Amino acid sequence: MAAPRGPADSRTRSLAARRPSLPPVVPGASGVASPGERGFQGLVIRAQRFRFSEEPDPGSEGAVLEVHVPQVLHLQYGMYVWPCAVVLAQYLWFHRRSLPGKAVLEIGAGVSLPGIVAAKCGAKVILSDNSELPHCLDICQQSCQMNKLPQVCVVGLTWGLISPDLLALPPQDIILASDVFFEPEDFENILTTVYFLMERNPKVQVWSTYQVRSADWSLEALLYKWDMKCICIPLESFDADKGDLAESALPGRHTIEMLIISFAKDSLTYT
Ligand SMILES: C[S@@+](CC[C@H](N)C(=O)[O-])C[C@H]1O[C@@H](n2cnc3c(N)ncnc32)[C@H](O)[C@@H]1O
Repeated sequence: MAAPRGPADSRTRSLAARRPSLPPVVPGASGVASPGERGFQGLVIRAQRFRFSEEPDPGSEGAVLEVHVPQVLHLQYGMYVWPCAVVLAQYLWFHRRSLPGKAVLEIGAGVSLPGIVAAKCGAKVILSDNSELPHCLDICQQSCQMNKLPQVCVVGLTWGLISPDLLALPPQDIILASDVFFEPEDFENILTTVYFLMERNPKVQVWSTYQVRSADWSLEALLYKWDMKCICIPLESFDADKGDLAESALPGRHTIEMLIISFAKDSLTYT
């Protein structure tokens, strides 16, 4: 993984060109939505289903988890599911037995598929997105409502900003970060926020999925600077080495890495 190069606007364009494709969205001045769809500021929300399952033992039914998240075709990246989110959600599903009671914060959550899966598996979840993007915070809320998770809180957290909301957070066990390393100029801000949370709980782990978009980008030097380390978890170790996951074709052929970042001093163990 690498450090940022190249002008921000060309990076933004290159990410936009890789947006997951969505079914067409019907702009409705009056918010007209067919059954199963709901209006969102003149656009229609489509509920996207993800179904996680385990291979059943002979003679028994395997566990299944079905969640729905809202998607809106919108200029802001947080309004729909990215391929990384499905891979991270699969990691959570695979390790679901370790989640009950864990304090889990999702950063850059957008529609929050990983956070929703964590909450459904018994974690105490807080979802967050950029405090300056109210649409993204609204869609986090919509996701909680759609999955009947009134206990999940949503807060505005802008990477790199030590805000009252960040200061008020309780110590976290796990930070979820799906496709947040997409704009190299933000990498250090993300790690600043993570470092703040690591000081609160030096054992906190960042479970992050990273989509490889440029061979020139790397986190290595920044991790060293911020006294952190990172291991890469093979996708096959949690049944994620497929283009189709949770009955979604979204991961497709994208190159996605599952990373666990922790304090360099901590002897990292992972489930
Ligand atoms: C590529 S999207 C990924 C969304 C979601 N995690 C997923 O994987 O489906 C990046 C997310 O980061 C959020 N974001 C961008 N800049 C941010 C910032 N400076 N602080 C906090 N969140 C930010 C966006 O609003 C968006 O939800």
